[in-house]
Amino acid sequence: MLQAQNLTRFLPAALRDRADEYLEALSVFLEIRDPRVLAALGPSGLRGLLLKRGKQGVPTRIPATHKAHFDWQYPSDQPEMRLLYTRAKQGQWDSDTSLPWDTSVDPENPEVPLLPREFVDFDNISSLGFRLNPKEEQQFIYSLTTWILSQFLHGEQGALFAAAQVTEAVQFFDGKLYGSTQVMDEGRHVEVFSRYLDEKMNKMYQINDNLFVIIDSLMSDSRWDMKFLGMQIMVEGLALGAFSTMYQQTAEPLLRQLLKQVIQDEARHVHYGVLALREHITKVLSESERREREDWAFEVALLMRNRFMAYEVFEEWFEGRMPRSTWREFVSQTPGMKKFRQVMFSRLVPNLREIGLMSPRIIPKYEQAGLLQYFSGAAADRLTGEQMIRDLDAERGRADARTQAAA
Ligand SMILES: [Fe+2]
Ligand SMILES: [Fe+2]
Repeated sequence: MLQAQNLTRFLPAALRDRADEYLEALSVFLEIRDPRVLAALGPSGLRGLLLKRGKQGVPTRIPATHKAHFDWQYPSDQPEMRLLYTRAKQGQWDSDTSLPWDTSVDPENPEVPLLPREFVDFDNISSLGFRLNPKEEQQFIYSLTTWILSQFLHGEQGALFAAAQVTEAVQFFDGKLYGSTQVMDEGRHVEVFSRYLDEKMNKMYQINDNLFVIIDSLMSDSRWDMKFLGMQIMVEGLALGAFSTMYQQTAEPLLRQLLKQVIQDEARHVHYGVLALREHITKVLSESERREREDWAFEVALLMRNRFMAYEVFEEWFEGRMPRSTWREFVSQTPGMKKFRQVMFSRLVPNLREIGLMSPRIIPKYEQAGLLQYFSGAAADRLTGEQMIRDLDAERGRADARTQAAA
C-alpha cells in the first residue's frame, strides 16, 4: 500500500476514506510490473475500481469479442474430457428436489450459527473501540456471511457467461460437450445462491469492485485461454476454496447441503480447466505467450489475496466511525478470512504448477508472497469432488474432536 496513505489520516473522515479508496485503486495499477498484464487488466481496473460499473444499479454491458470455433467433423479428441462429460451428466442434480428448502433459517440464531463466532476476532474489534454485544455480534456475522454469499452469487453469474463463451471458443470437441454441462451447472449455482439469499437471508450485497475487475477482464479478453485461466483456474479455484471453508464452518444445514452439492460440481470445473490448459500452454503457446500468462496469473493471485476486504460490510457498519484503512487491517487479520486464503491457495497453486505456469522464473515471486508452501499439493485432475468432501469432513471431524478434548 502506498506510503501516501499515511497522509490521509489528517483528513476529515469522509474525505480520508475516499482518498484511501482512490489510493488503494491506484496501488493496484502501480503494483503490476508487466506492461502486457497492465494492458490486459488496466481498462477493467478503471471500469471496476474508479467508475464502479458493477454498482450503478443498472445492467452492465461488457463487449465480448472471441471467435466461435466450429468443427463439422465432430471428432472424439480428448478422452479425459469425454470421461468428465460422462461424469458431469451423471452428476446433474435438480435444485428443487435435492435441497431441503423447507428448512427454516434464522440468520441470528446463536444455536445454529451461519459461521462460528471465532470466524471473526471480536476482541480485536473491541480493542479498536467498537464493543459489540452478543446480539450485535450475531448481526455482524449475518452481514459478513451474506456478503460472502453475495460474492459467490456474482461470481457464479460470471462463471455462467464465461462457461458459455469458452464452450464456443475451445478447440476440443469433447471439451465443447463437457462445457455444455458446465453451463447447466453454473446456471443451477446462480439459481441456488440467489434463492438462498432471497428466501433465507432476505438481503444481498453489491458486487465487490475487485471481483468485478477480474470478471470484466476475462469477459472482454478475446483469447479463450485467458478466459479459461481467469475463470476455470483462478475464479473457480477461489470459489472452491471459499465454498470449502464455509462448508466446513457453517452449522446451518440447508447451506451446508447446498455447498456440498456445489463443491462437487466445481471440482469438475477446475479439473476441466487443468486438462484444457495443460495441453494448450505446454504444447501450443510460444514461450513468450506462456510467460505472459504466468505473470498475469501471479498478478491476479495477488489481487485475490489482498483485495477481498468486504468494504461493503464496512460501509454498513463502521463508515465514518472507523478509518477504512483500519478496517482493511482488521479484515486481513480475521481468522476466518485467513483460513479462507489458506484453503484457496492450497487449491490454486498446485493447479498453476500442473498447467505449466510455475516455472523457476516466477517461483521466487510466489515465495516472496508467502504462497510457495502450497506448491506440492495435489492438482484438480487428481481430486474428485467426492474425495474433496471426504477430506473436508475428516478435517472438520478432527477439529471438533480437538475442541471437545480441550473442553
Ligand atoms: Fe459455479
Ligand atoms: Fe464453476
